[in-house]
Amino acid sequence: MSSPVSHPETTTTPSPNKLSVCFVCLGNICRSPTAEGVFTKLVVDAGLRGRIRVDSVGTGAWHKGERADKRARTEAQRRGYDLQSVARQITTADFTNHNLLIGMDLTNLRELEALAAKSNGTAKISLLRSYDPLSPTDAEVPDPYYGGVEDFTRMFDMVEAACKGLLARLRSEWGL
Ligand code: 4NP
Repeated sequence: MSSPVSHPETTTTPSPNKLSVCFVCLGNICRSPTAEGVFTKLVVDAGLRGRIRVDSVGTGAWHKGERADKRARTEAQRRGYDLQSVARQITTADFTNHNLLIGMDLTNLRELEALAAKSNGTAKISLLRSYDPLSPTDAEVPDPYYGGVEDFTRMFDMVEAACKGLLARLRSEWGL
């Protein structure tokens, strides 16, 4: 197995001309690393690497230090993504270090709202699929961890659609 990649970006505060986006799930080994990998590729392909920082984090600590789940990495490779994340648990500093904290499901959202109340940060909290114009209100990215390969495939489809919408939104709202 290759060695974990460090995450130096998580200690940097947002700069005025670099937007910082952090995806959030429960374990930080399936959904949010997938969103980080998919969105990073979109950002790089759009030539916006210097303008948008991408990160991910979990609300739980069980998988701290682990690379993304093998099933997610396999599907990522099949679709041309590289999942670089090493799992970590969210802290109140994430509300200061990022402009956007984007949860995968409503439980993530509730946890984020509770933590936001204890932080001084100003990060905006939202749900990933809210950026997909074809998703219904409050649509979630379901947790695939206890599922099969097909649940990971569906998860990637949802994440890809929403990440495209997210980039379009950021381009128009932030003038990128
Ligand atoms: P994730 O999936 O939140 O998408 O990373 C999970 C991974 C592990 C666990 C739950 C969800 N777990 O309970 O260990």
